[in-house]
Amino acid sequence: MRIEFQPGPYREIACDLLAVPVFEEEAKNASLPGAWSGATRGAVQAVFASGEFKPELHRTCRIGRPPGLKARNLLLIGAGPKAHFDPARAREVAGTAVRKAKAYACGNVVVLCRGGAAPLVAARTAAEGALYGHYEADFHKTRDAESKTVERLRLAFGRAVSRAEAEEGIRQGTITGEAVNAARTLANEPSNILTPTRFAERVREMGEPAGLSVQVLEREELEALGMRSLLAVSRGSAEPPKLMVLRLGAGEKGRGRGPLTALVGKGVTFDSGGISIKPAEKMEEMKGDMAGGAAVFAAMMALARLEPRRRVLGLIPAVENLPGGRAVKPGDVVKSYLGKTIEIINTDAEGRLILADAMAYARTLGAGRILDIATLTGACIVALGNVYAGILGTDQRWIDRMRAGIPFTGEKLWQLPLDAEYRKAIRSNIADIKNVGNRSAGAITAAKFLQEFAEDVPWVHLDIAGVDIEHDGRPFACKGATGFGVRTMVGMFE
Ligand code: BES
Ligand code: MN
Ligand code: ZN
Repeated sequence: MRIEFQPGPYREIACDLLAVPVFEEEAKNASLPGAWSGATRGAVQAVFASGEFKPELHRTCRIGRPPGLKARNLLLIGAGPKAHFDPARAREVAGTAVRKAKAYACGNVVVLCRGGAAPLVAARTAAEGALYGHYEADFHKTRDAESKTVERLRLAFGRAVSRAEAEEGIRQGTITGEAVNAARTLANEPSNILTPTRFAERVREMGEPAGLSVQVLEREELEALGMRSLLAVSRGSAEPPKLMVLRLGAGEKGRGRGPLTALVGKGVTFDSGGISIKPAEKMEEMKGDMAGGAAVFAAMMALARLEPRRRVLGLIPAVENLPGGRAVKPGDVVKSYLGKTIEIINTDAEGRLILADAMAYARTLGAGRILDIATLTGACIVALGNVYAGILGTDQRWIDRMRAGIPFTGEKLWQLPLDAEYRKAIRSNIADIKNVGNRSAGAITAAKFLQEFAEDVPWVHLDIAGVDIEHDGRPFACKGATGFGVRTMVGMFE
């Protein structure tokens, strides 16, 4: 999909489909602003008046051969109340426009950007949303795709805007939008195809052309470093573990204020639970247990293209968690890279085991701030469902900044408490710590475990179990991986 800026009056634009967001109050009062009433000779008012167009968010109504316009089709898209139309919503509306265009086999599309956002922000979010909506997870189907692709997308504005600004927005949105889709593809990939080895290869293949330096630590190196917590998880699998270390062009020496930041993403390419095996129901979703790692890779790739001088590192521990003759067993004790001993009570609490070593190693590499992102706990899904991700940590300023970005990123984050009292639940009789608490507050006790490995380094944890997969499909998104976290992480360095 080619994305371009379209200056000038929309009435004159020849295209297959012109998509126009309509605010709830406009549909209710049967009045689009000024030009529309006359331009379409009442056609738009007619669908408002007849009730054909329900003014709900993402509801659409297509008007074929709209009078007064050069477009072959006019698509009205419910954009909700005007006061709630933030960049996050504008992104979704652009996604809906593209998905509808595909369904109608319209390959040449114009989306009208409306609302009060600055042209750069409006163009960027529209480009991101369009790429998001255009994405399909059916890349293993051998038949032709059911819906057509949009070859050309133009972004129009109902007012005069600077071409340079709009085009810069499109450039940025293309970079972030493509990065999010790359994360989705990795997470959608089945575990027989995306093993830790293939994961690392793909990160290298895609990352290096974008300007990332990709280092992969192999099993022997991890053994020599003493990462026995990470290694314990991969013991049951024939697939060797990998620890990816990603650097931007400037590496650790990059410019900028503040400490070197490490982004650490859980990369479990399949989580069977190990010896503490999971029930068969929905186990296939555990191919996506590397969504945090995929998001870290995608964020690093976007930053390499947008902000290559930022002081940021990416670490992705990648393993497969299987039961096997050599698998780690409940009750086993391992010594972590940091030196703390861990009693592994439940082999299904594996994410924290690989993150613990990767986070401690990030500090060896000089990280003065750590953000980890992981599909970590079912308990987080119980607490927040599929809407909000959990956010916890010791760097309250960063947490506040990340939450302040929600109207732009659309990635909803809800803070859970990291109270010292929760530490008791993971006290071990025989080792420094155990890897699970009791049944209560599971998302928090998992974070308390990770905190032990960040120690006094300011740290933020995102638990994305629940938001990493779209189960039902949305008007602006296909079913499957969401790429959650990429926009939030990129946003922290802009
Ligand atoms: N990857 C899972 C968490 C998960 C569950 C993500 C469902 C997405 C959907 C994680 O490794 C896990 O198994 N966590 C356990 C921890 C428990 C053993 C303390 C869980 O949540 O059940
Ligand atoms: Mn698990
Ligand atoms: Zn897991």
